[in-house]
Amino acid sequence: MRTLAEVQKDITNCDEEIIRLLTRRMERVGELVACRKAQGEAIIAAKEERLKNEEIRTLLADNPYKEELSEVFLGIGRAAKVARTKALFRHNIALIGFMGTGKSTVSHYLRDALAMEEKETDAMIVESEGMPITEIFERYGESYFRNRESETVLKLQDVHRAIISCGGGLVMRDENIANLKKSSRIVLLTATPETILERVKNSRERPILNGHMNVEYIKELMEKRRVQYEKAADVIIATDGKNVAEICEELVYRLSE
Ligand code: S3P
Repeated sequence: MRTLAEVQKDITNCDEEIIRLLTRRMERVGELVACRKAQGEAIIAAKEERLKNEEIRTLLADNPYKEELSEVFLGIGRAAKVARTKALFRHNIALIGFMGTGKSTVSHYLRDALAMEEKETDAMIVESEGMPITEIFERYGESYFRNRESETVLKLQDVHRAIISCGGGLVMRDENIANLKKSSRIVLLTATPETILERVKNSRERPILNGHMNVEYIKELMEKRRVQYEKAADVIIATDGKNVAEICEELVYRLSE
């Protein structure tokens, strides 16, 4: 039987080897991003991620520590996403656009695909005010809500590697655009009024559209806001006819150009 000191030394040797291998693995992540971009391949590549997970399952199939090592690989997968995100962007990603352009859906997808933190300005206001958006509008009026939005943008100055999903009217104030731009690249999502109506028609949580659930009103309000949205945007992505994976691939590609 080996002595305690010998076993401890062996474990330290293993750790050193693991660190060396994991460092090599992380270094490959940046290289992989560069290759994908150069070859015009998808960067998030959700399908490849599924195949990679299957490959690991096969490799561990007969391993006596299958359960434990699967846990370790979950951590490695997450760390690799963080390394990839660092190789891609230095800024937060702020999503703006009219109600129903898919900001929340895109935000959730990017959060998972890029291992980024997620912040939703509406949700932050609902939490700090302790009531839903409709009630804030009813009790205190729109300008009160807009002031809370501006405060929320200021609160977000210190977040890093985050997706910031902004309420549809947030960038109507220039000060909010200026404050967002300090730490974020701004992505405008667009959709036709018809698509928007289809997505929001059953919602009771958008006071701006209450009593105006029709294409004409949406079109008119969108047109009024268009210049301001476009002024704020670093990148514009049309979402009609695309699924969330396609939208996010395009977004990541454009932001990493
Ligand atoms: C608003 C959009 C809403 C919410 C509020 C006002 C707007 O957010 O902030 O109801 O003025 O466009 P979503 O764009 O997430 O629906």
